[in-house]
Amino acid sequence: MSKTILVTPGDGVGPEVMAQAIRVIDWLKAHRGLDVTLETALVGGAAMDAEGAAISRETVARAKAADAVLFGSVGGPKWEKLGFDNRPEIAILTLRKELGLFANLRPAMVYDPLVDASTLKPEVVRGLDIMIVRESTGGIYFGEPRGVEILPNGVKRGVNTEVYDTIEIERVALVAFELAQKRDHRVTSVEKANVMESGLLWRETVTALASDYPDIALSHMYADNCAMQLARNPRQFDVIVTGNLFGDILSDLASMLTGSLGMLPSATLGAPDASGKRPSLYEPIHGSAPDIAGQGIANPIAQILSLAMLLRYSLNLEADAKRVEDAVVKALTDGARTRDLGGTLSTAQMGDAIIAALG
Ligand code: IPM
Ligand code: MG
Repeated sequence: MSKTILVTPGDGVGPEVMAQAIRVIDWLKAHRGLDVTLETALVGGAAMDAEGAAISRETVARAKAADAVLFGSVGGPKWEKLGFDNRPEIAILTLRKELGLFANLRPAMVYDPLVDASTLKPEVVRGLDIMIVRESTGGIYFGEPRGVEILPNGVKRGVNTEVYDTIEIERVALVAFELAQKRDHRVTSVEKANVMESGLLWRETVTALASDYPDIALSHMYADNCAMQLARNPRQFDVIVTGNLFGDILSDLASMLTGSLGMLPSATLGAPDASGKRPSLYEPIHGSAPDIAGQGIANPIAQILSLAMLLRYSLNLEADAKRVEDAVVKALTDGARTRDLGGTLSTAQMGDAIIAALG
């Protein structure tokens, strides 16, 4: 049966890089029998302009009904002056929350042809292959109480609350353990158990769960030390599992080990329902990049690799996922480079190179 993908290009470079991912989908339909139906919807600033909200109720409903969401990016200077409750970013936060997308998978890989693109020495990053599993529906980004209050003495106070319960910790740790079983069997759990009770609960809960996974080597690290270790010797890591805030920060750091933010995809997964269908969303981690939007120069690789993750995790098409990933590596090996990688190719030319490499 045909699977439905809801495509949400969003703002900034989102529509430009998404156009290349759609070309890859069209190639797979024509040559590999991929059976998908694409629907599209506005999100972010584009949706605020046209529909009055960063994401409409209807779009949320269509995202829930789809087999997967392929998301571009949201945000831009045009919408920055609107109030805090009126941000394009609400689109992605709403989708994570409403679809229960609690496990955000952020791989950071260094491809051999790009080993010199990193600001770190080649010998430090060569062969790097880390998977960060970031909890994405809880923690301080969603915890209550939150807000800005005015104290009786007139002083303003901003409040956000880090909250995790054992169910939230267990389900994301489970995703990390299962991924590690298909990789190098090592999980590093990251928190601040030395200063935060929620961090201590995180550590205890992950430790207890690890007894069900005797084949996994579990270690624990404080988030500050993890940031330092990622810059010092990133290849020590296989899978990192951490909360929403630390995962947001550490995954940006990890992305730069690879040389360009334009390379990194992500998948965000929820729990499968009774029929086995798992809510899922795939997006590049680079954001809308307003500084280069509209020029046709953005690197489409992160969006195309996000599609590869969709093929793998939502459609169970491992061979096609691998084919797309191999085509990206081949294009890079053959010298295809957009500006962020030190080259001159346009977004569409990089798309051409990848499509030519598909077979
Ligand atoms: C990310 C982004 C988002 C986040 C923003 C856009 C809300 O930074 O996906 O990492 O902080 O989760
Ligand atoms: Mg972020």
